[in-house]
Amino acid sequence: MTVRESGDLDVSAIRTDFPVLEREFDGTPLVYLDNAATTQTPQRVIDAISEYYEHYNANVHRGLHHLSQEASVAYEAAHDRMAEFVGASGREELVFTGNTTESENLVAYAWGLNELGPGDEVVLTEMEHHASLVTWQQIAKRTGATVRYIRVTDDGHLDIDHAKELIGPETAMVSVVHVSNTLGTINPVADLAEMAHAEDALIFVDGAQAVPNRPVDVAAIDADFYAFSGHKMAGPTGIGCLYGKQAILEDMEPFNYGGDMITKVTFDDATWNELPWKFEAGTPKIAQGIALAEAADYLEEIGMDRIARHENELAQYAIDRLGEFDDIEIYGPPAGEERGGLVSFNLESVHAHDLSSILNDYAVAIRAGDHCTQPLHDKLGVAATARASFYLYNTREEIDVLIEAIDDARELFG
Ligand SMILES: Cc1ncc(COP(=O)(O)O)c(C=O)c1O
Repeated sequence: MTVRESGDLDVSAIRTDFPVLEREFDGTPLVYLDNAATTQTPQRVIDAISEYYEHYNANVHRGLHHLSQEASVAYEAAHDRMAEFVGASGREELVFTGNTTESENLVAYAWGLNELGPGDEVVLTEMEHHASLVTWQQIAKRTGATVRYIRVTDDGHLDIDHAKELIGPETAMVSVVHVSNTLGTINPVADLAEMAHAEDALIFVDGAQAVPNRPVDVAAIDADFYAFSGHKMAGPTGIGCLYGKQAILEDMEPFNYGGDMITKVTFDDATWNELPWKFEAGTPKIAQGIALAEAADYLEEIGMDRIARHENELAQYAIDRLGEFDDIEIYGPPAGEERGGLVSFNLESVHAHDLSSILNDYAVAIRAGDHCTQPLHDKLGVAATARASFYLYNTREEIDVLIEAIDDARELFG
């Protein structure tokens, strides 16, 4: 049992589910605070991958033999599971991709190249990840569309008045990050969806930092597209999901051609398979998809609400502790406001990369850099930030270790 009666997470029990957390470096236990980049994998997800390769490794949808049938059933069920996990109506609305980035590219190429043209506008935000920002930028260049950016305020929120100004009759697509991977801000995506739909525009939500750690209901948001990655939600690498409303996916051209996405081929033309297979060309991510469904089961058994609360509590504690020092600047919404489980900051005298490298001597893993949000960092006036990000297995004690290591770094750099 990994959940206390009180509703809090039993973190010590949860930690035993993750073998990598037992690692030590020169006798110092690993403190893994780089979860916004990639989360660790529980044993039962690792077992689901092994089980597939040990017992029913075969290509799906093509063989009539036992192994292929078993693999096909499990692979299809994994779509049902992931659809249910985010509130989609069924597998028709849930495409397996390689990651969030591929989900973004799928929509930008398959929908954007066909639907956008001169005069159309794609509205992004200044806090978009490059996966969305660069993708729409490039598709806009190819189609003659214009990209506009909703401003981020000094306290790390979207400027909603500016959003209202920007989203208008020319808007064809609004693409917005649900939880910022740099600021931790939780954006009002349902409100933005309403604004987009009032102008007959579509909305794409980048949920890479939301689905892993909070309940997400794509229908309640009324998202047209919603994307996330397996490796950020206790699942394997190499698998992501794209939710799309069935009617929109049905109208869309395929992104990649070949393999399972085809129904009939002649020397002149081809017709496409039904959803979601129309968007899954070639041999798909079979083991990864099956294991991702296992990760969803694992997280849901613990409770997405509980995970969200735990992450917010850790983030607030980190802000409190980092806030004890005058020479530390913290980015994002103010203390006390609910946020995703990550805190980006800078120590005045030490470059974020140097800090990250010193913390590594204490076996503390954080991330330093622009976190794939270079334009946002330009706006913040810094080239890089240090980012500590948390997941369901992190503790306050680990944040204390982080703070002690930062203290030592400060001394080292005078
Ligand atoms: C908000 C956000 N969007 C997109 C991505 C891209 O995810 P992936 O590398 O899994 O495609 C990330 C990864 O850091 C992210 O944090």
